[in-house]
Amino acid sequence: MPESRVPRRRRFVVCEPRHFAVQYAINPWMRPDRPVDVPLAQAQWQALVDAYRAHGHTVETVEPVPGLPDMVFAANAAVVVGGRVFGSFFRAPERRPESLPYDTWFKSAGFDVYRPESVCEGEGDFVPAGRWMLAGTGFRTTPEAHREAQEYLGVPVIGLTLVDPYFYHLDTALFVLDDGTDGTDGNVAYYPEAFSPGSREVLARLYPDAVIATREDAMAFGLNSVSDGRHVFISPGATALAGRLADHGYLPVPVDLSEFHKAGGGIKCCTQEIRS
Ligand code: ARG
Repeated sequence: MPESRVPRRRRFVVCEPRHFAVQYAINPWMRPDRPVDVPLAQAQWQALVDAYRAHGHTVETVEPVPGLPDMVFAANAAVVVGGRVFGSFFRAPERRPESLPYDTWFKSAGFDVYRPESVCEGEGDFVPAGRWMLAGTGFRTTPEAHREAQEYLGVPVIGLTLVDPYFYHLDTALFVLDDGTDGTDGNVAYYPEAFSPGSREVLARLYPDAVIATREDAMAFGLNSVSDGRHVFISPGATALAGRLADHGYLPVPVDLSEFHKAGGGIKCCTQEIRS
């Protein structure tokens, strides 16, 4: 373990939860009959933005669109690697209109945007991990989209099959602790039971020293975390995982996004990263 882990400054894109709500159910967390507290959601979201800025990260914002309650989950809009933007094509018809305002934002920020032909939900299922990209399938993003992403981005894509509906996006079951920009393979934290047996074996081969999370950590959205290589922005409910991360030399920074858990999202879901 390094004496002191070194953070890398990140460029994040987020979308204010002004129109956040749970109006339909497209994952087991969503209960349209249970109200969300929008002022509380806005305060929690602002605390996340403030925490990123306080740790030296750049945060830019996309204007929210009325009638798109899940647009706050910026991670799902695209995956950006080497300055190339691979856009989204949502499985649920309710979320499909989110792609356009994000594409427009990226174009006005000077990026070309690739429009995928197959269903894919950005960083929800595509997790860049240094020299390769991990990619989830099973509930949302399709294996065809994995191939499209590999072809467009020129990064090896490693497909992983998700099997538990509570962990319907890869970013609810795994996050990158360290992306190996120092020439190593990096490291991840994950919940093994969210994956098919073969995918578990793949993860064990790639990451023999991974930090393994419990179901409790995963149900507390502990794997929907963002790491800058040193600080880990993490749900305060994931106490066991935070302890393990600290043992590995990371500094957990608790940020509570409990209102967003009602929609099946957490810290990472609210955060799109631009990798140049
Ligand atoms: N309600 C949203 C959906 O089910 C939540 C998305 C959460 N985002 C994520 N990156 N896991 O699509």
